[in-house]
Amino acid sequence: MSNKRFYIETYGCQMNFADSEIVNSILLDEGMQPVEEAEEADVIFINTCSIRENAETKVWNRLKEFRSLKKTKNDLTVGVLGCMAERIRDKIIEQEQLVDMVVGPDAYRDIPQLLTRVDDGRKAVNVLLSLEETYADITPVRTSGNGVSAFISIMRGCDNMCSFCVVPFTRGRERSRPMDSILNELRQLSEEGYREVTLLGQNVNSYKTDDADFTTLMDQASRVDPEMRLRFSSPHPKDFPEDLLYLIGNRPNLCNYIHIPAQSGNDNVLERMRRPYTREQYLELIDKMRRAIPGLSLSTDIISGFCGETEQEHADTMSLMEQVRFDLAYMFSYSERERTLAHRKFEDDVPEDVKKRRLTEIIGRQMEIQEERNRMEIGRQHLVLAEGPSKRSEHQLCGRTDTNKMVVFDRENYQKGDYVAVQIHDCTSATLMGNALYKSSVREYYSDTVQA
Ligand code: SAH
Ligand code: SF4
Ligand code: F3S
Repeated sequence: MSNKRFYIETYGCQMNFADSEIVNSILLDEGMQPVEEAEEADVIFINTCSIRENAETKVWNRLKEFRSLKKTKNDLTVGVLGCMAERIRDKIIEQEQLVDMVVGPDAYRDIPQLLTRVDDGRKAVNVLLSLEETYADITPVRTSGNGVSAFISIMRGCDNMCSFCVVPFTRGRERSRPMDSILNELRQLSEEGYREVTLLGQNVNSYKTDDADFTTLMDQASRVDPEMRLRFSSPHPKDFPEDLLYLIGNRPNLCNYIHIPAQSGNDNVLERMRRPYTREQYLELIDKMRRAIPGLSLSTDIISGFCGETEQEHADTMSLMEQVRFDLAYMFSYSERERTLAHRKFEDDVPEDVKKRRLTEIIGRQMEIQEERNRMEIGRQHLVLAEGPSKRSEHQLCGRTDTNKMVVFDRENYQKGDYVAVQIHDCTSATLMGNALYKSSVREYYSDTVQA
């Protein structure tokens, strides 16, 4: 296997990006060489996402491009990884020449053996889902990223079965990675100079092992390095642990930012979505969060045009957004997925143009709210972790506040990885602009700065 050059292209959520780092580690262990461009590779992997129709369309188009590459390069191997694996398995049997190997999210350890099969001229497929696999003993090798912030998967799969969502079918049952292995990886990242880590799972509040629940994990994780900031994504509104709120409120390196997907602001829609909370309960949770964590910033996910959604139900989502005033939102129009409960039981009956119009309304209002909220930041001070040069200029750095807002400021003598106290003087709906004041640290900043 050695000497083969490989290239990995990743689509989908942060968990897929974290998985690509695991695959990267497995391939490096085989002695294979990473390359930056698909054209240079002997083996191309595409790590795929099924969450919405357009995510899958992108992958199919890319596979067609790889097929033309295969025509010019006889021994090129194309492998599909991730959430589309099972669907692609069914199709490659009839579709010639598109893909040589298919590997589901729980079968990455099998990749070296599957590559050998391909070398023997056979197709190689393993899409089995597992009840145990967490890749706890594989240290991901981080190739992309900025060397300052990283992701760690703490669990895999999802048992929630929201009626619109394909994830429980593509990723299988929920299982948690042992706490020790998570803490060890955090220690290692801290030694390598990483300053911010996001702990990932489809439903992090369900994290559970023999010795820990999610709050215990966050408590222990935040003690690994007080100068390493921690975030997590995503929790579910149905059972957010209250003790965690107080921990976040009191621990300087637990970020004052929570992503808490609402999906809809109407009880009937939530019921059809099989999201086991009401609008009222969601709003109570938001209140509780804001009381426990001063200065908290919040983001959410919204789906517009779910099966049977009426104008009034859509208006309820708009009014939920008005009431909460999220700092950030990821907004989607509903895309029907095979095998889900919604596909089997409900009709995808909101016409495409209506879905689009409602989504445009939702996005439009969210952009206004975001800008209004960002405007309120003008004049305030934040501790910003510098992640690297800004997109526009080498003379500027960009980085996030504890509350997850992107800030751009003049580089001066500051460097990537520095914690910098920054005073905000301007903004757009997406970015804050600031003046750097002084270099600081998490402990210093939160002990001697009274925040506005
Ligand atoms: N586990 C996470 C969500 C992962 S998927 C959670 O529950 O918070 C990310 C987002 O994609 C979801 O929150 C939802 O808003 C959106 N999504 C999932 N399935 C979708 C579908 N079929 N159509 C449109 N959006 C969808
Ligand atoms: Fe999908 Fe719901 Fe699980 Fe999130 S919690 S991954 S939306 S089934
Ligand atoms: Fe997509 Fe799979 Fe993530 S479907 S959103 S890559 S879990």
